[in-house]
Amino acid sequence: MGRNTYESIGRPLPGRQNIVVTSSSLKREGLEICRSISEAVETARREVFFIGGVSVYAEAVNLCQRVYETVVQGEFICDRFLPFDLLEGFLLYNTEDIWAGDRWVTFNEYRRANEPA
Ligand SMILES: NC(=O)c1ccc[n+]([C@@H]2O[C@H](COP(=O)([O-])OP(=O)(O)OC[C@H]3O[C@@H](n4cnc5c(N)ncnc54)[C@H](OP(=O)(O)O)[C@@H]3O)[C@@H](O)[C@H]2O)c1
Repeated sequence: MGRNTYESIGRPLPGRQNIVVTSSSLKREGLEICRSISEAVETARREVFFIGGVSVYAEAVNLCQRVYETVVQGEFICDRFLPFDLLEGFLLYNTEDIWAGDRWVTFNEYRRANEPA
């Protein structure tokens, strides 16, 4: 995750390796700090999930075989937007609507068009 995403969460996420990319001197127990996406990938011990924000998604999507998208139904004021071509080269593989108590949430899984079956 990027530094801003980490700061918006405010703590390491439990039960997984937390890698933050930043040029800053951020340090905290439970975080591993990397200077680039490629360093982060080398540091990862298991399957890698890129969890944002915008610049991390934009750079890392080229390394990804799958994209898991959660669409929260409703109208919101937003200050971050995904690049419009982020899903170029991906196909919608699965979609599921869940009633979350007060609104519908849609989970979409995209896979690379050329991913082996
Ligand atoms: N809805 C979602 O799925 C979702 C997901 C994630 C985040 N968010 C939200 O989006 C906001 C944060 O996103 P954001 O786009 O502003 O920021 P971000 O990508 O989380 O963080 C940007 C910072 O991360 C570091 N960084 C990014 N790419 C890097 C790279 N390739 N190499 C080294 N450092 C790199 C830099 O930190 P330094 O400036 O320290 O060098 C950069 O300023 C938050 O409000 C968060 O809650 C939403």
